[in-house]
Amino acid sequence: MPEPDEFVVTPYEVRGRIDYARLRELFGTQELTAELLAKLHHLTGGDLHPLLTRGIYYSHRDLAPILDGFANGKPFFLYSGRGPSGPLHTSHLVPFDLCQWLQRRLGVPMYIQITDDEKYWARSGLTREETASWGLENLYDILALGFDPKRTHVFFDSRSIAALYPLAIRVARKIPYSTVKAVFGFEPSTNIGLVFYTALQTVPCFWPSWAEGHSVPCLIPCGIDQDPHFRVTRDIAEGLGYPKPSLMHSQMVTGLLGDAAMSTSGDRPDNALFLNDPPETVDRKVRNAFTGGRATVEEQRRLGATPEVCSIWALWRTRFAESEDKFQEVTAGCRSGALLCGECKGQLLERVHKFYRYHNEARERVKSWAESTIVTAAPKPI
Ligand code: TRP
Repeated sequence: MPEPDEFVVTPYEVRGRIDYARLRELFGTQELTAELLAKLHHLTGGDLHPLLTRGIYYSHRDLAPILDGFANGKPFFLYSGRGPSGPLHTSHLVPFDLCQWLQRRLGVPMYIQITDDEKYWARSGLTREETASWGLENLYDILALGFDPKRTHVFFDSRSIAALYPLAIRVARKIPYSTVKAVFGFEPSTNIGLVFYTALQTVPCFWPSWAEGHSVPCLIPCGIDQDPHFRVTRDIAEGLGYPKPSLMHSQMVTGLLGDAAMSTSGDRPDNALFLNDPPETVDRKVRNAFTGGRATVEEQRRLGATPEVCSIWALWRTRFAESEDKFQEVTAGCRSGALLCGECKGQLLERVHKFYRYHNEARERVKSWAESTIVTAAPKPI
């Protein structure tokens, strides 16, 4: 008998040591190849984003047609989202960093969904007031990455429902219960909010086509854990007369305690660097973080360490190495044993603190226009 996979990746659970190549096979997605990256490079000009060159985005669905279409004058829009279950941590920025970069390079519209309803349904410990207020706090953090106020639109589920519902009605009719049960592993005790919810996550994929009255392709950068929602979307798209969304999938970012993802749903706040952590907390979490280091300094000098399993290396890789040279220097130093974990953490912390200072200022500035991005009305009656 084949070994069962030792990991689980669904929108509602990520655990185990993830074999990303195997996960791609299981999900049936395509590899983000060097050829595709070259195509993207050609279109965007300048340097490719580090999240692309460092392999964090590694999988996709139908990326080529959307890029070819754009090159031939057919614009697309970007879509990603956030379930507001608490403060954002640095790995939550991975989809939005790529979106912001693509928006700036290509001038395309961005749709952000804030699912305060989903998190209320999915997390029994949260009140409605909490998911709604985290939704707004999270939105400030996302917009602070540098989104263009004129081209960025937000579906804040509980406040945008009038805009979403006419399409949700049509989407929901196409999705049988047996599909969501199989895709998400729902149990008889699952509340019916979650059963309906996937319809709402689909709506933004079609919304611009509906609003403009002709097909507008959609590109979704997201963590690969969100792919199951969009398999459902892609299955029903054509039946509703809309284009199937394309996707770019990222790997999850290793948690500070060494978990497969920086998720804190198991009540492990030290597993992640939250954007609202004060500087002392950031210091403590980084200093205590799980690394790929050896038991003793002597051993590490002699044998080197293992970046691939290290939560600190994951931070350098996803955000904090400011250049390719710096990233290579850290990686090579780690592997050879020249760079010890304490020194590496110190260098990383300088960058983390700098980013937090910059981010907090940018976050204050977006507050004056964040509300104006929230879509509240449907573009037409049905
Ligand atoms: N379900 C996502 C979460 O739990 C939120 C979300 C809504 C999303 N729409 C999306 C994520 C589109 C990625 C792409 O965080």
